[in-house]
Amino acid sequence: MDGREIIERCRLLAQQTEKPGAITRTYLSPPMREVHRLVRGWMEDAGLTTHVDAVGNLRGVRGDGPRLMIASHLDTVPDAGAFDGILGVMMAIALVGQRPPCAVEVAAFAEEEGVRFGVPFIGSRALVGSPVMDNGVLAAIRDFGLEPAQIPDAVVDPDVKGYLEFHIEQGPVLDTLGLPLGVVESIAGMSRWELRFAGKANHAGTTPMELRHDALACAAEWIGLVEHVSQNTPGLVATVGKIEARPGAGNVIPGEAIASLDVRHAFDEVRERALNMLLDGAEHIAHRRGLTVSGESRLDQAAVPLHFEMVEEAVESAGYPVHRMVSGAGHDAMILAQKVPAAMIFLRSPGGISHHPDESVREEDVDAALAVGHQLLRTWSPE
Ligand code: HGY
Ligand code: MN
Ligand code: MN
Repeated sequence: MDGREIIERCRLLAQQTEKPGAITRTYLSPPMREVHRLVRGWMEDAGLTTHVDAVGNLRGVRGDGPRLMIASHLDTVPDAGAFDGILGVMMAIALVGQRPPCAVEVAAFAEEEGVRFGVPFIGSRALVGSPVMDNGVLAAIRDFGLEPAQIPDAVVDPDVKGYLEFHIEQGPVLDTLGLPLGVVESIAGMSRWELRFAGKANHAGTTPMELRHDALACAAEWIGLVEHVSQNTPGLVATVGKIEARPGAGNVIPGEAIASLDVRHAFDEVRERALNMLLDGAEHIAHRRGLTVSGESRLDQAAVPLHFEMVEEAVESAGYPVHRMVSGAGHDAMILAQKVPAAMIFLRSPGGISHHPDESVREEDVDAALAVGHQLLRTWSPE
């Protein structure tokens, strides 16, 4: 397989969506069945022996003894592009199809983004023994025809001695530098929270401004603080990507506002300091306005250094420039790194666009990544 065929497969899978006209595929949603059918067929054509584990990850093994896992995720954000996650799975299958000398396991994770239940990494967390056991997740597993009692069997096999993930960069760095590939030296730490501002719903026409306890106006002031703190903290990114006003009628003052918060930085102490500043800020703003605010942590993921050495050698010997970089995006590699040496190779994101229908990848960059992967698998041996 070459870059053109891999891109074709990604675009074919992009048609498996919950939302006609857009690419939206969340955890164990109906389109995942057709994705499993297609991907499982390609895995078996490549010589992998496949199974679906109890959280819905599609797994395939070729060869005996110590092996390298090459993986990424099958799910998407809403209105996504065609390559985030899926490209890494197609790369893995293509590399196995080249019959490498080492044993390989391919994992196509059922969920990484955290869209359906607000908790990310449902797929890969089951491999490191920290499965997400929320009632909603367990019900989704049963609805898909899987058995939660078998979740412990999903743990990564002791024979897996390394992890490799190919992924689009999802940012502007490689495109700006004019480079096809990046070697990921670490993945930024990430905090995800949900905040609930509680005020008082009332009539929009009869309630004077000075008597209001408007939860959405309160959240809006706080969102301004989120942007101010992140603009004034080098290397910090903070995002309120989802907000809901309740009861959600145009002529009712919002009594409640639910807001997401995503805070990331390469250094954990900077991220934690900024997070505390934003949570204290929410308390302060709510108190001044006569409201209350509560918060729930959905993820607290430390920054993760990766094993980039093995990848750098392969990039060099395949004849491509080496560019080490930090990943601002979270990836399953940060979960598997808890168990095995993990490495990532980024492919250029033209225009730096991702989590958007205009997300793309260049054919020649996929060919470059294939050449590096081929080189890596020729020389890989368990540490
Ligand atoms: O949100 C992220 O960093 C990744 O795309 N899941
Ligand atoms: Mn993503
Ligand atoms: Mn991804």
